[in-house]
Amino acid sequence: MATAVAAKGLEGIVAANSGICWIDGDAGVLAYRGIDIHELAEKSNFEETTYLLWHGKLPTKPELDEFSKKLAAARTLHPEILSLLKSFPKSATPMEVLRTAVSALSFYDKDEKAVDHDSNIRKSFDLTAQIPMLVAAFDRIRKGKDVVAPDPSLSHAANFLWLLNGEKPSATATRAFDVALILHADHELNASTFAARVIAATLSDVHSAITGAIGALKGPLHGGANEAVMRMLFAIDKAGTDPVEHVKNMLAEKKKVSGFGHRVYHTEDPRATHLRKMSEDLGNSAGRAKWFEMSHKIELYIKGEKKLNANVDFYSASTYTTLGIDIDLFTPIFAISRIAGWAAHVIEQLDDNRLIRPRAEYIGPEYPAEYIAIESRA
Ligand SMILES: CC(C)(COP(=O)(O)OP(=O)(O)OC[C@H]1O[C@@H](n2cnc3c(N)ncnc32)[C@H](O)[C@@H]1OP(=O)(O)O)[C@@H](O)C(=O)NCCC(=O)NCCS
Repeated sequence: MATAVAAKGLEGIVAANSGICWIDGDAGVLAYRGIDIHELAEKSNFEETTYLLWHGKLPTKPELDEFSKKLAAARTLHPEILSLLKSFPKSATPMEVLRTAVSALSFYDKDEKAVDHDSNIRKSFDLTAQIPMLVAAFDRIRKGKDVVAPDPSLSHAANFLWLLNGEKPSATATRAFDVALILHADHELNASTFAARVIAATLSDVHSAITGAIGALKGPLHGGANEAVMRMLFAIDKAGTDPVEHVKNMLAEKKKVSGFGHRVYHTEDPRATHLRKMSEDLGNSAGRAKWFEMSHKIELYIKGEKKLNANVDFYSASTYTTLGIDIDLFTPIFAISRIAGWAAHVIEQLDDNRLIRPRAEYIGPEYPAEYIAIESRA
């Protein structure tokens, strides 16, 4: 029996019970399993945060060691997957490649159809380890470089930078990347996570749920916004225009400025607080504060003019650029982190599943409409 009509875009609708992530959009609070994101960003690492998301509690030292070892051991790709990556057009975007390659990973999963708790955890380890490998491998293939083998002695964050650049990353770059991974790891029922839960709830497989989530993340209103921010900063820099004038013109033309606004936060996105600082610190220490300074001018203007706050994507753009990462890898990097949250939600959904099947308010032609024979149609 259908009841009330939901607001457009399901705004304000509670669509699931979940014990994973809590957001207070008015107070600017984000917490994973009750622990404040500021505390996690300061004290945790990606492996520990992922354990927390999947198991609902912080690990003991032996539990964390075992978890990290299992994640490192899952860094394997079937040779056919590498051949597949090599067969893709070099013009394909890394996000399209990731979407297609994650789907293909299921061909080589030993129990692709299984959706029980233990199988879901095993697949979550595999996907969390493999997604960074896919992103780094395709980037190197398209640049004509050899694919780098993973290093089990490195943390998840350091291993990705190693796979991408073929050089051991500095402690500063590793920590900055690790914090970025913590900050992006989960965000309640954002569009891609909701997509993953809807797919999982049909008792399709985990790879299908994550493939769908990647498709949702790709859009510029969601994870694709970080790339759009950097394209804007590059365009401003190339044209030598004033950043404030640029966004002023965008607003006059009723265009949205990527990296601002949020459906849930009505105050500062707590993730933006860390990314702003990271962008500034990395920019200053690399002697390349240009992108931070440009971003900050834009932020002050948009905040003053439109009362809109920077979201997670605004300062991640300048942060990643200062770390030397190509623009079209920003959204795949979001996926490298968000797989932790997607997996947690898929596991939670399947632990207590019911098909997700809402209703629509019908606004089409009145029933019963006449079926007109084809020869009589105007
Ligand atoms: C995130 C976002 C999709 C949320 O959308 P939403 O909750 O549906 O909000 P709306 O798009 O309805 O925006 C509400 C109002 O704020 C304005 N607004 C919202 N974000 C804006 C932005 N980035 N730039 C300019 N105006 C913006 C809208 O134009 C609208 O104004 P109006 O009421 O005068 O028409 C939206 O803020 C947006 O498109 N931001 C840019 C993309 C982005 O950074 N996405 C990443 C999110 S983490």
